[in-house]
Amino acid sequence: MGSISEFIDEVVSDKLEDDVVIEWLKKIFADGLNDAQTIELTKSMRDSGEKLEWPAEWANLVVDKHSTGGVGDKVSIPLAPALAACGLKVPMISGRGLGHTGGTLDKLESIPEFRVDLSVAELSQQIEKIGVAMVGQTNDLVPADRRLYALRDVTGTIASIPLITSSIVSKKAAEGLTALVIDVKFGRAAFMVERAEATKLARSMSAVANALGIQTTSILSDMNSPLGCAVGNALEIVESVETLCGRGPLDLEELVCVQGGVLLHSAGIATDENHGAVMIHDSLNDGSAFNKFLEMVEYQGGNADDFLTDATLYTALGLLDSNLNTTEIFAEISGNICDIDAMIIADICLNLGTGRNSLGGEIDHRVGIILEKQIGELIEIGDHWATIYHSNELDEEKIKSIQSSLRTTNDNVEIESRIVEMIR
Ligand code: URA
Repeated sequence: MGSISEFIDEVVSDKLEDDVVIEWLKKIFADGLNDAQTIELTKSMRDSGEKLEWPAEWANLVVDKHSTGGVGDKVSIPLAPALAACGLKVPMISGRGLGHTGGTLDKLESIPEFRVDLSVAELSQQIEKIGVAMVGQTNDLVPADRRLYALRDVTGTIASIPLITSSIVSKKAAEGLTALVIDVKFGRAAFMVERAEATKLARSMSAVANALGIQTTSILSDMNSPLGCAVGNALEIVESVETLCGRGPLDLEELVCVQGGVLLHSAGIATDENHGAVMIHDSLNDGSAFNKFLEMVEYQGGNADDFLTDATLYTALGLLDSNLNTTEIFAEISGNICDIDAMIIADICLNLGTGRNSLGGEIDHRVGIILEKQIGELIEIGDHWATIYHSNELDEEKIKSIQSSLRTTNDNVEIESRIVEMIR
């Protein structure tokens, strides 16, 4: 076999049989790659297809974020318009739900007529006009990843740090970014359960993306309990709108402000990351982030009038449909809430229909769970603490299961930041 870049050329030109590519993937999975090889692989993948190009005067302004995936993780939806409201250019390319984790595209598609399949020309035009677009991967960007990822998926070779790094960073590099923030989640509902493994991945992604000329910060954040109060596609749009209007849950708002602050500083718009975080916070409170979001909705085929009031929004998202049921869950224990198990909540939500059981399967955008109480709050037996939105009958098992996700203590519960480390 020749160099890594020659191999990637052959992967894309279909000269290689699947068996040969699989053997190569298995070797990397088993032996790993050193830093220089991971950088070479990532560059070759980036160069395997079309690349986005931006006007020279935006040299410092084009940014994006990536999350390794979580439960209730809707950070991108308020973050992208808030960044654009602060003057950055945000061609955000997101994914669909993977396993038990939700996907930004699925959430956005809860909005009637919202299009995530913009062509490269449409995406570029929208960024020129309003500074933000939230779309899916186009067919022409990083075709090498499409083939490699599909083969990794069926050969148990996903969980490899050099392969994950090259897959994620090559796609971001093809967007022509100046700066990138990566939210690397760890904990029971993250793909990397152990903090040490997540740290290795964060270091690898930061090092490779920085070597490719993208100013990159990886933020290590806790994914043991759901982020915010809403889990489920349409319900997460409602919570994103709340956040865009300065009324979001504090853990979600913290991640939006900190990640936005990092990017505003990297782009040279904010004097430091704290200043950047305050700029994002202001944009959530002065209406500018929400107005930018509404502009984006209109540009991508949705209707801004759906967002006029809670009633119009709930109606547009189907949350008032007569065939959608709500069941309130009441506490069977009391004390200060110290834990809500995100993996249990994710499994119930998947079962309700928030995610896919098979490739290309249908999802029900309306179903999900609202947590009416959060970690740190006092709860008494009989208090209403969760609401389940469901379209099928709820069995006793699901109700038992949701009760088992809640843990309380008689001690005081300190609310800790979800962010444990930043790696550049
Ligand atoms: N997401 C990606 O895009 N690639 C990976 O390898 C893993 C998660």
